[in-house]
Amino acid sequence: LDELLSEGVSGRRVLLRADLNVPLDGSTITDDGRIRAVAPTIQALVENGARVTVCSHLGRPKGEPDPQYSLAPVAQRLGEVLDRAVAFATDTVGDDADEKNAALADGEVLLLENLRFNAGETSKDDQVRAEFAGELAAYGDVYVDDAFGAVHRKHASVYDAAKLLPRYAGFLIAKEVEVLSKLTGDAEKPYVVVLGGAKVSDKLAVIENLLQKVDTLIIGGGMAYTFLKAQGHEVGNSLLEADQVATCERYLAEAEKLGVDLLLPVDIATAAEFSADAEAQVTAADAIPGDRMGLDIGPASAELFAERVRAASTVFWNGPMGVFEFPAYAKGTKAVAQALVDSSAYTVVGGGDSAAAVRTLGLPEDGFSHISTGGGASLEYLEGKTLPGLEALEN
Ligand code: 3PG
Repeated sequence: LDELLSEGVSGRRVLLRADLNVPLDGSTITDDGRIRAVAPTIQALVENGARVTVCSHLGRPKGEPDPQYSLAPVAQRLGEVLDRAVAFATDTVGDDADEKNAALADGEVLLLENLRFNAGETSKDDQVRAEFAGELAAYGDVYVDDAFGAVHRKHASVYDAAKLLPRYAGFLIAKEVEVLSKLTGDAEKPYVVVLGGAKVSDKLAVIENLLQKVDTLIIGGGMAYTFLKAQGHEVGNSLLEADQVATCERYLAEAEKLGVDLLLPVDIATAAEFSADAEAQVTAADAIPGDRMGLDIGPASAELFAERVRAASTVFWNGPMGVFEFPAYAKGTKAVAQALVDSSAYTVVGGGDSAAAVRTLGLPEDGFSHISTGGGASLEYLEGKTLPGLEALEN
């Protein structure tokens, strides 16, 4: 973006792809992190006199207008965050968008309605996507991508539109890539990765790619039970991916061979049923009763994990340690997050759920070195995959 700013953007029309896919409760935004994260790029453009047309997806509508996924509430919040008027087009590439794009004066901002109200955005048909991308590209003289959360999607606004105009990466994408490339490159040691969340199968490629690089791999959350099973323990009614047990056995063996400490929970907070008011009972990880399910790591595991995190120089954390949405089962997630805050390490939080956990648990955002705005995107980056959005910016 600095390159574009130094060329001069005054009077130029910028098509900016942002990821304004924020969680909504009705029309109330429950976490505006992604709006605030892209604001510096928009601010720099408008302060330098650009005419900025912002586009984004929200949720997963099915290629046609669906009011519950309207970006209208986001336009209002974006205006508040930028402290300037943000015009809103009630369509993405139709008459209203045409008119409002043409009416933009220097330093003004327009937000288009949800990209995914158009089937062309996510189409698998290259031709269909290219057509929609062409309509979008007509709104800009240059293209800026700052939608880090969407760079793993080969979608019209992310991939095809980038190829039609002079293209630049926004400040957010530049920062995300800088941070995540440290985690896959020469991270300062001791390097600790903490993985949680419901499913091992979502994290296989990340484990494969990072196991060679880390000193300690900590596994918590729902995925820990498949690892415990691989160690030969019974896990009662806990989440279990029976088809991944053999893979987990292989990871345990590989970690040992590589000299990586693979830490699993040593105790578990169990419940009789999956419910917020189910009474918690802590048991050893190898003694989960057959009729109970693990919903959080126990206090001894929380302390064990926290200690490792505090002693690290680099920490990457993705995925909650338990069902943090239930206050009685949020303790493990909170303890691990607090350890990241207390640690003097370079700490990175990745993934939508962990970033949301940080905010809903009331932890200070500035207590972390970086909170990634990408869920799937940050994981795919750490898997070492080529991301379509980044590839399109490079070529
Ligand atoms: C996300 O929330 O991870 C991004 O906004 C991408 O959304 P998607 O998974 O619906 O493509």
